[in-house]
Amino acid sequence: NPHYHNIITESHGKVGLITLNRPKALNALSSDLFHEVNDALVKYDDDSNIGAIVITGSERAFAAGADIKEMSDQTFAQVYKSDFLGHWGKINDIKKPTIAAVNGFALGGGCELAMCCDIIYAGEKALFGQPEIKLGVIPGAGGTQRLVRAIGKSKAMEIVLSGRNFSAQEAERWGLVSKILPSDKVLDEAIKLGQDIANLSQPAIQAAKESINAAFELSLKEGCHFERRLFQSLFSLNDQKEGMSAFVEKREPKWTND
Ligand code: CAA
Repeated sequence: NPHYHNIITESHGKVGLITLNRPKALNALSSDLFHEVNDALVKYDDDSNIGAIVITGSERAFAAGADIKEMSDQTFAQVYKSDFLGHWGKINDIKKPTIAAVNGFALGGGCELAMCCDIIYAGEKALFGQPEIKLGVIPGAGGTQRLVRAIGKSKAMEIVLSGRNFSAQEAERWGLVSKILPSDKVLDEAIKLGQDIANLSQPAIQAAKESINAAFELSLKEGCHFERRLFQSLFSLNDQKEGMSAFVEKREPKWTND
């Protein structure tokens, strides 16, 4: 899309790829950049040819955080009235699976953006962290909330209160990252995973994502109830009939996504 100045978008088969592209600022997430990410996410979400979305940066940086130069002179009145960072929430409304392919720095808002994705693949030299405390502030795009849910209280406290970075290996051990890969394989593998997901029944994938995300909001009993009702509703789809018949007939299913 020629209208974007801070990102590059290109589709790989059924996978929509968003590459953060402000190399001189290590992909610092300025408001302009984030509006472009939101726009691209919504376009891919609305595109029936796309079944999964990958977000990546460069070898050196996924993203080094919100743009500090843009923030430094802002007053409380300005950030409050504009609900600064409020627009970062858009990614949480995206129905299609999102995968972060992380190399290099994923700091502050960069770590938070990765954590907003459904799955994180990391290169072996990726470096995560929430260094906001060193700037005299705290994470502002879900860092304190998503990190504690992903890695537990003691580790989340240590990371956010000290501002120390953590490695891809730590992130994988703690369950924040689903897989570590050689740096030059991260994007290919993320796209491959996106392609595998995109080749399955899209309404079933959407329901699975919705149900897993409900686990963050609901009690276990309510969550299992929500899941069971969604499961039952999938019996209204041709894809359920097709998937189960294909198994019984020992053939590959042909999904029609309805
Ligand atoms: N905002 C704006 N510019 C940034 C930036 C950021 N978050 N991170 C890096 N840059 C810029 C640098 O200012 C520098 O620009 P100039 O060449 O014009 O000086 C350029 O990118 C290259 O960076 P460095 O020279 O610093 O590169 P380095 O290799 O020496 O260090 C780094 C890399 C450790 C990532 C270092 O750049 C750094 O510490 N960046 C800031 C990390 C940070 O604090 N992120 C949190 C931001 S606050 C936030 O994200 C709030 C929130 O919750 C949403």
